[in-house]
Amino acid sequence: MIKKYTYGKPIQTDATVIPLNATVGMPAPFTVTETETGVQFAYAMDRDDAVFGLGEQLRGMNKRGWIYESWNYDDPSITEGRSCLYGAHNFILIFGKKTFGAFFDCGGKVTFDIGYSDPDLLTVCAKDVDVYVIEGENALDIVKKFRTLIGPSYIPPKWAFGYAQSKWGYKCEADIRTVYEGYRREDIPLDMIYLDIDYMQDYKDFTVNVERYPDLPALSAELKADGVYLVPIIDAAVKVQAGYSVYEEGVEKGYFCTDKEGEPFVIGVWPGDSLLPDVLNPAARLWFGSQYKALLDQGIEGFWNDMNEPAIFYSKTRLQSALGEVAKAVGKNLQVEEFNEVTGNFHHLANSLADYDSFYHNAPDGRHVHTDAHNLYGYNMTRGAAEYFEEYAPDRRFLLFSRSSYIGLHRYAGIWTGDNCSWWSHLKHNIAMMPGLDMCGFLYAGADLGGHGDRTTEELMLRWLAFGIFEPLLRNHATQGTRDQEFYIFKDKKAFRNLLGIRYSILPYLYSEFVTCAKNGGMLSRPLCFDYPDDARARTVEDQLLIGDSIMIAPVIEQNARGRYVYVPARMKMIRMKAGDRYTERIVEKGEYYIEVPLDEIVFFLKEGKVMPLAKPAKNVASLDEEHLTWLKFISEPTQYRICRDDGFSKSSLENFETVTVEP
Ligand code: GLC
Repeated sequence: MIKKYTYGKPIQTDATVIPLNATVGMPAPFTVTETETGVQFAYAMDRDDAVFGLGEQLRGMNKRGWIYESWNYDDPSITEGRSCLYGAHNFILIFGKKTFGAFFDCGGKVTFDIGYSDPDLLTVCAKDVDVYVIEGENALDIVKKFRTLIGPSYIPPKWAFGYAQSKWGYKCEADIRTVYEGYRREDIPLDMIYLDIDYMQDYKDFTVNVERYPDLPALSAELKADGVYLVPIIDAAVKVQAGYSVYEEGVEKGYFCTDKEGEPFVIGVWPGDSLLPDVLNPAARLWFGSQYKALLDQGIEGFWNDMNEPAIFYSKTRLQSALGEVAKAVGKNLQVEEFNEVTGNFHHLANSLADYDSFYHNAPDGRHVHTDAHNLYGYNMTRGAAEYFEEYAPDRRFLLFSRSSYIGLHRYAGIWTGDNCSWWSHLKHNIAMMPGLDMCGFLYAGADLGGHGDRTTEELMLRWLAFGIFEPLLRNHATQGTRDQEFYIFKDKKAFRNLLGIRYSILPYLYSEFVTCAKNGGMLSRPLCFDYPDDARARTVEDQLLIGDSIMIAPVIEQNARGRYVYVPARMKMIRMKAGDRYTERIVEKGEYYIEVPLDEIVFFLKEGKVMPLAKPAKNVASLDEEHLTWLKFISEPTQYRICRDDGFSKSSLENFETVTVEP
């Protein structure tokens, strides 16, 4: 059962797809109080209650014990003390004495104090918000009801489940060829190479630097013929430059965000002075989406949307004023206080609340100051592209994912989790984040494998890969200036080849489970307690996951570890894989075990009564042989499995499932 309650005048978010009338009264079990800034919803937690959800957020799977903000924010220093990341996913699931879900649908900031100020109290603060309280038979049932409310999840083309190599630093066609040849030479699988901002002409969206890429269509066609797709980045802001058609057309049509007086609001990002498309205006949104045609027509079929929190390095007005203050200080003898004051002008230029308060959107339900609709920006930028793809090729699936997001975007695209670092703690964080993302519909998701910032190591890379093969979006991405982390440069190339090969072997399983969950609101990755709700120990496990209907994983997340302790919540079959076609199996009873996991092996657990299809490893998705499958099985009677038999590209073929009966 879902009940909706409305407070103030919420902005239209289009997060939900089922219209509900608001109920009058208290949104029990929350109590409500008005505050100076809005409304506060409070719930007294039982001592053993866990709180799941919030999608892309910091800390563990169980969110209890910290304060979180939904405020889409571009800052690559992702340390424990932070309270917000790039996405705003306002769904929580209280799991315990009373299990229920709640969604706080609001385009502006929402604060979740989950036992931070008072260890036993959960409070949520927002202004102008629709609150949905969701009850059901159990945790998964509640998630499914919520997912019905917000609509089915995006399903990318099948090649997007292959392995992707990316790095901010590949500058030209020769760099792309080096990557492609490196993977092919070492016989390590590859399905995608990403193009970061250097492919553009002067960081102008939808342009290509022809000195660096003399013939992008030819390069794209050549690589695609070998199953490798090029995936360029698109940034939110548009460069201010006379003669640049996207800029000129947008200004002429009034499609950019404006200041109070109605003049285009100038910000600075990669290309210097830039304007933000007003993607809350449906006409402007589709217009921006239609610009993707320039690259679609060159054979590109996938995009990653970036800087769409929107990230602002500075606003033109505030930068000029800061420069003015510095100019006044030239030649002066600055005592420390004056020095701090002068330099302080530059400390708060980026992503400043004052700037977000200074520009406006023309949305269907009125003119809104950006602050009130902030968390909807990346969602609508990405939605514009998806809406245009629908016009461009209605039955075709394109790869599309975004850095910033809000619930609703999950129907149009996937997400990656932003600028993490090559730290063991970020591998752990990656694992902990997945179920929350699934709850909120973001099934096609993943973190930058190996870490975006800082220096990776061969060991971290292998361990991250051993987890990453179970994540739908499997992309190795790093920032410029960091140590190279393409798999073919490391010492133990065979280990990379084999571990990544396992991804392709399990793809018939991962893909079938993904498509099923995307359609029926299931969770591809779940905390253990979702399947074992009466097991108190299962509720505390933070670094193991159930993946799909059949298996449990327990990745190694410590440097120099030779293995790890694993909690097995029920009798299972332990599968130890060296390669997709080379494995051993052993039955383990419920209990805790120390399991050895060498760097070049993957260990996972098959649930009793379940089966899992396996293909032979392949060099890419296009060459995967799904006709000759073998089966992992832990069954005593014939068991059915529904395997997705779509064509990998069209929306219409997604209905094609084959039910296979597996004999014991
Ligand atoms: C942002 C993105 C990152 C990208 C960089 C350059 O930081 O999050 O993935 O490499 O911009 O485009």
